Amino acid sequence: MNTLIFNGSPRQQGDTVALIGALTASLSGRADIVGCYRARISPCVDCRACRARFSCAIDDGMSEVYRLILASDNIVIASPIYYSELTGRMLDVLSRLQPGYYARGRGEAGFSNRARRGGILLAGGGDGSPADAITRARILLRAMGCNEISEPVMSLKTEVVPAAMDAEALAAAAALGRAWSAGRS
Ligand SMILES: Cc1cc2nc3c(=O)[nH]c(=O)nc-3n(C[C@H](O)[C@H](O)[C@H](O)COP(=O)(O)O)c2cc1C
Repeated sequence: MNTLIFNGSPRQQGDTVALIGALTASLSGRADIVGCYRARISPCVDCRACRARFSCAIDDGMSEVYRLILASDNIVIASPIYYSELTGRMLDVLSRLQPGYYARGRGEAGFSNRARRGGILLAGGGDGSPADAITRARILLRAMGCNEISEPVMSLKTEVVPAAMDAEALAAAAALGRAWSAGRS
């Protein structure tokens, strides 16, 4: 089982990383993590080369990520909430999913080359609703061919209780890993 995790946090020991750690500890198979802040991946510049072919004109770290998406059984979007959204770097990296959009328009599978599950891990300080971030994460997971998307795992008061101390959120992340390992959503 291959799991691909997009980490949208700049903090190397932060709340999102704590949730990712709880998930991966109970996950079987291989897990690859794309650290959006450290990956050398540029945003889409809408050059439109991918209108004609399922590939990107920009030659950077995203080439490997495309391979990981196509080989994945599970994909996770894990991010802090910034201004009620996923972080800008997460959106930059995932703007490069555009080849999949045009592939589907041409009647090709694109990133929907196989059935795969999606998961959402969110950390928030406690200010406002996660609804917009959840909506965006679901759109992006569907763009990567995730046909079953699990309930979001969230630690939403990290200013008061850091995710690493949020027993409920850590348990939910671990439960997601166990469910996927057992072949459930
Ligand atoms: C620029 C910025 C914007 C933020 N906006 C929100 C927000 O809208 N809602 C919220 O609950 N927390 C917000 N936060 C707090 C972070 O989501 C919170 O500290 C989170 O736990 C950080 O996760 P990390 O340690 O994985 O980076 C914001 C933080 C920053 C730096």
